[in-house]
Amino acid sequence: MSDQTYGFDTLQIHAGAAPDPATGARNTPIYQTTAYVFRDADHAAALFNLQEVGFIYSRLTNPTVAVLQERVATLEGGAGAVCCSSGHAAQIMALFPLMAPGKNVVVSTRLYGGTVTQMTQTIKRFGWSAKFVDMDDLAAVEAAVDEDTRAIFCESIANPGGYITDLRAVADVADKVGLPLIVDNTSATPYLCRPIEHGATLVVHSLTKYLTGNGSVTGGVVVDSGTFDWSASGKFPSLSDPEPAYHGLKFHETFGPLAFTFHGIAIGLRDLGMTLNPQAAHYTLMGIETLSLRMEKHVQNARKVAQWLEQDPRVDYVTYAGLESSKYFDRVEKVCPRGAGSLFTFAVKGGYESCIKLIDSLEIFSHVANLGDTRSLIIHSASTTHRQLDENQQRAAGADPEVVRVSIGIEDPDDLIADLDQALAKATA
Ligand SMILES: Cc1ncc(COP(=O)(O)O)c(C=O)c1O
Repeated sequence: MSDQTYGFDTLQIHAGAAPDPATGARNTPIYQTTAYVFRDADHAAALFNLQEVGFIYSRLTNPTVAVLQERVATLEGGAGAVCCSSGHAAQIMALFPLMAPGKNVVVSTRLYGGTVTQMTQTIKRFGWSAKFVDMDDLAAVEAAVDEDTRAIFCESIANPGGYITDLRAVADVADKVGLPLIVDNTSATPYLCRPIEHGATLVVHSLTKYLTGNGSVTGGVVVDSGTFDWSASGKFPSLSDPEPAYHGLKFHETFGPLAFTFHGIAIGLRDLGMTLNPQAAHYTLMGIETLSLRMEKHVQNARKVAQWLEQDPRVDYVTYAGLESSKYFDRVEKVCPRGAGSLFTFAVKGGYESCIKLIDSLEIFSHVANLGDTRSLIIHSASTTHRQLDENQQRAAGADPEVVRVSIGIEDPDDLIADLDQALAKATA
């Protein structure tokens, strides 16, 4: 089921799923199996040659994971999706078919700290590199692109500050220079923002966050729009040229809009093995069924808490893009009209010491390195999630040393405000 005429609330429950043909089970079963019996030798050969689509081995495909792939692809308006073992795995899986030693990716300065480290340090081991630019400076984005650039990467709502990227404007630059735009849509989810509608080629998610929604799963997904012409420039030989491991098959020529998805499964998961397990897929499917309800409440609560914090004299500033005072306020309507998410930072008077006292004094908020949970969460990003960055990188990312990051949950907002009130009193006493 992938009919785009159904509404979001219907698709988040039904897309990709049908009653189990063997048993009639209404919920998607957890297919806890490693392998699948072939009908005969010809069937096995056809599957291994990619001449027939089916299940071989759960490192590549699994029926529970396949339902999740179709569900997320549908919600994002993509052609196909590949689930992975984490959000970070999804980022590598998105870049893998595009990059080669000596190639680079132009990335936003406003990213999750772990992604900054992945892009500055770890990808160097593959011979790849990243150029960091402020995505609000479109001329700088274009100027950073060179002959060896293979993609542009940003977050829709950036962690930790909740800043919003003008996706259409960045996609126009990507189009002009003939490169795919990859958008990490983790903090927005497809309920608040659908990057493909703004011109993104690929969308990546950490399923770990709002999509599962309750801090119970680690997972990721790459969604392909199916719209990029991988053969036009000669820059993406993994997708356009004969693949030796499949007897010279050309992914783009053979699979058209599903080329990236098939490559992700048949090469990426097969050889890198960053596979999502069926249990995790099941929990994520259950989480997605209530995505719109949760996101509405996350946004309502975040707005109320941010407004309260902003008027409090013990707080210097609040970065929530849903506040009229935010420089990104005008982008909410354009990029994520259902709301600016529930992730933002605020600066406590008294700097780092007050931040730490505040965190230690909270009762409802949990002090954890996660976001997108039903529970409200808090962390001091500069000393944790963004610790590997130098101070300039921290400030550019929005993880200034004097701010704490909150991920506002779906509890009673008055309780959250009361908790912040008592903790601020202790922190600034
Ligand atoms: C915006 C964003 N993208 C990606 C990731 C990485 O996801 P995972 O922890 O599932 O690898 C995170 C983790 O916090 C994140 O916040």
